[in-house]
Amino acid sequence: MRAHSVLIASNRGPVAFTLSENGALTMRRGGGGLVSGLSEVVRDTDVLWVCAALSDGDRGAVRQAPGGRLDEAGNDTGPVRMLDIPPPIFHRAYNAVANSTLWFVNHLLYNTPIAPQFDTRFRREWESYREYNGAFALALAEEAAHDAKVMVQDYHLTLTPAMLRVERPDLRIAHFSHTPWAPPEYFSLLPDDVAAEVLSGILGADHAGFLTARWASAFMDCCETFLGARIDRGDRTVTYEGRTTRIGVHALGVNGEALRARAAEPDVESHMTAIRDLVGDRKLIVRIDRTELSKNIVRGLAAYREFLGRHPEWHGKVVHLAFAYPSRHDLPEYREYTAAVQRCAKEIEDEYATDDWDPLILNVHDDYPRSLAAYRLADVLLVNPIRDGMNLVAKEGPILSERCALVLSREAGAAAELGPDSLLVNPFDVSGTATALHEALILPEDERIKRGVRLREAATAMPPHRWFEDQLAALS
Ligand code: F6P
Repeated sequence: MRAHSVLIASNRGPVAFTLSENGALTMRRGGGGLVSGLSEVVRDTDVLWVCAALSDGDRGAVRQAPGGRLDEAGNDTGPVRMLDIPPPIFHRAYNAVANSTLWFVNHLLYNTPIAPQFDTRFRREWESYREYNGAFALALAEEAAHDAKVMVQDYHLTLTPAMLRVERPDLRIAHFSHTPWAPPEYFSLLPDDVAAEVLSGILGADHAGFLTARWASAFMDCCETFLGARIDRGDRTVTYEGRTTRIGVHALGVNGEALRARAAEPDVESHMTAIRDLVGDRKLIVRIDRTELSKNIVRGLAAYREFLGRHPEWHGKVVHLAFAYPSRHDLPEYREYTAAVQRCAKEIEDEYATDDWDPLILNVHDDYPRSLAAYRLADVLLVNPIRDGMNLVAKEGPILSERCALVLSREAGAAAELGPDSLLVNPFDVSGTATALHEALILPEDERIKRGVRLREAATAMPPHRWFEDQLAALS
């Protein structure tokens, strides 16, 4: 087995496999923001990517690969080791702890009169999360060369850095959080020992990265409150049990050139023609999201409804294109949320649609070229998450539409860079969002263009390869 000098670890990997009825495996690119950013970085390099098998298709592929090394089984993947973690352990770690607990805490999503409830069932789930993190630590320890750099990604793998350090004290370890971080008053929902384990797990790294200064400082506050760690806010360091971890802020951006090139391809052009045929010369308000609780799609639709109620002069002259593609359907909250989005859309149609005007087009199927087409045609882009680590949609939109006005939640990490040139909203303020939609529609042309230039500059300031190189440099 070759030892690698740079390794990435993340739950979702660069590829995913589908098992057909006749048992054949088809490989495709893995989904999500983290994967697309990192895939661009590691293309044509020797970085080993360690990830989990997420489906029966993935497990089938791992079983055909020596030691889980997909590349060594003849797949055209680049160096990838996929871990076949037993399904019950994987599901408890991924669905119950990572997505239903840590994601909910860091995005402030709980309906607290009812949830969370940390009981004996949770303790079993937590044990699985430990095992899952341990499996990553073990694989990384096996694959890393002496003194290698290991880049551990996200809330799925908060315990891995500390576990890996025990196995391999020679390694230089980084952890990066692609989510927001909760303030101590909300992080305190977690049982004390779990809170401490998450924080000290990340502090096993030499460098802990965040997307904005706000999330980095919430993490430091939590380390102070729950671990009694020593914090140097000026130098951005946390010292705990004799070790110091540097805290970094790395605001992931977009490779504008690559995105524009992809959006100029014929499949995107034909979607643009189809959208134009559908909406004519009406103004277009666009949103593109995973159907994700934190994305605040229901309040976004409610705001559009209120806007239509307050502005009859826009009836027949505007269309809201809402793309909400499927996500995490193993979780009942997400299935219910998708239904709530569909209900809300139906109510808007029932109230306002006429024979020759469809005020809202909701689509819940993922179609990347169609999303790119929508960006290119957008007059207004609505990005109103309850809370978001960064939100790359807010950055991609202005890159593809020169005259698109951005209505942006002040709780998205992207607001730190894009705020001055956006119409910022409080995501809970439906009426305020309705007002912002109107202001965005009537924003004068020269103002759109001026803001667009600055938005594009900010959105492309830190393309994925620089973002990654900066973190590698921070480990040196
Ligand atoms: O925001 C964190 C993140 O890992 C994103 O990078 C990604 O788009 C999303 O969560 C994916 O979640 P999942 O892997 O559960 O679909």
